[in-house]
Amino acid sequence: MSKTILVTGGAGYIGSHTCIKLLDAGFQVLVLDNYSNSSPEATRRVQQIAGKTVAAIRGDINDAPLLDSIFSSNDIHAVIHFAGLKAVGESVAQPLRYYHNNVSGTVVLCDAMQRAGVKNLVFSSSATVYGDPASLPINEAFPTSATNPYGRSKLMIEELLGDLHVSDPDWNIALLRYFNPVGAHPSGLIGEDPADIPNNLMPYIAQVAVGRRERLNVFGGDYPTHDGTGVRDYIHVMDLADGHVRALEWLNSQAGIRAFNLGTGIGYSVLDMLKAFEKACGKTLDYVISDRRPGDVASCYADPQRAASELDWSARLGLEAMCADAWRWQERNPQGYK
Ligand code: NAD
Ligand code: UD1
Repeated sequence: MSKTILVTGGAGYIGSHTCIKLLDAGFQVLVLDNYSNSSPEATRRVQQIAGKTVAAIRGDINDAPLLDSIFSSNDIHAVIHFAGLKAVGESVAQPLRYYHNNVSGTVVLCDAMQRAGVKNLVFSSSATVYGDPASLPINEAFPTSATNPYGRSKLMIEELLGDLHVSDPDWNIALLRYFNPVGAHPSGLIGEDPADIPNNLMPYIAQVAVGRRERLNVFGGDYPTHDGTGVRDYIHVMDLADGHVRALEWLNSQAGIRAFNLGTGIGYSVLDMLKAFEKACGKTLDYVISDRRPGDVASCYADPQRAASELDWSARLGLEAMCADAWRWQERNPQGYK
């Protein structure tokens, strides 16, 4: 019998792509999602791509009785925990909502896992836990800090999971610190579908390319970078998804709690991304340099060495595939899943 993985937030952007990699690797997948930022259509398309069925439950990670019934009626081997709110600006305006959903939700989830004796967990953390890094590239031993409630929720979860492991060393926990996920499945059937005006660069550029937005606002042209615009470590979502399968394998072979950077180690500027996207879509895209966005750092990219040596994982797909796949998804689904 193949192992069942509970995927919280499995209808979301990274979750839906990870479901495909899990199905390809022979796992059974059970999605738990409240669809607060996604659509059940994503899971239908995952099944279409993989040619396999996925069980999906509409529900909230804060619903303890629901979690108990999920764990008692399924033989769950591990949980990949994507469910969470992720908009930085919104978290500043609504901190309690973020702490309730992200932090309390994780406590309720882990409590239910503990009751059920399921102690294998892969958690979606973020490079945001490094705050404004003192040097580059960033490795996992760098000090952590947070500058907004979203980032603080990720840091608090990492810390509470550390405490949980101290209390019960049977827990196996991989903290995956994602850099900047972009791109889409090459089929063009699933991709990133922001509910509102996109906060993040790639979906914004894609919406300019498809005609939904007039021009890109480039947040700052005077950073100490090669062209003055912010530099980030963009990683193809299919590579990122693969990292989760490797992390599951790691959980089986290794006890403990460990953080892993999932990035390429390469930094591209905002204008590098814009040019690469223009090439992918065959259009010239309008942009204007505007003020810096508060809280942004000049440059951020990973040292991905630990994931390479301990998870046997490294990113394979380059900028061209990231842009081509993001464009294929956007062009074929100009309004996302709607
Ligand atoms: P997403 O919003 O597309 O996916 C999150 C999913 O979780 C959505 O389907 C949403 O409906 C669901 N969800 C939210 N709260 C829930 C709850 N209480 N109960 C059940 N379901 C709930 O976001 P994503 O980009 O796929 O991100 C997945 C995870 O990775 C998040 O935890 C996010 O913070 C983290 N992360 C994302 C990025 C990024 O750039 N996308 C970077 C670093 C970390
Ligand atoms: C942001 C969040 C981070 C979160 C991550 C994933 C902030 C400060 N950081 O990271 O906490 O984990 O998203 O959700 O919000 N840019 C533009 N114009 C735009 C959008 C972005 O110029 O319209 C620039 C930014 O200034 C930055 C780069 O593009 O230099 C990437 O931005 P973005 O995609 O939002 O990611 P991060 O800021 O790295």
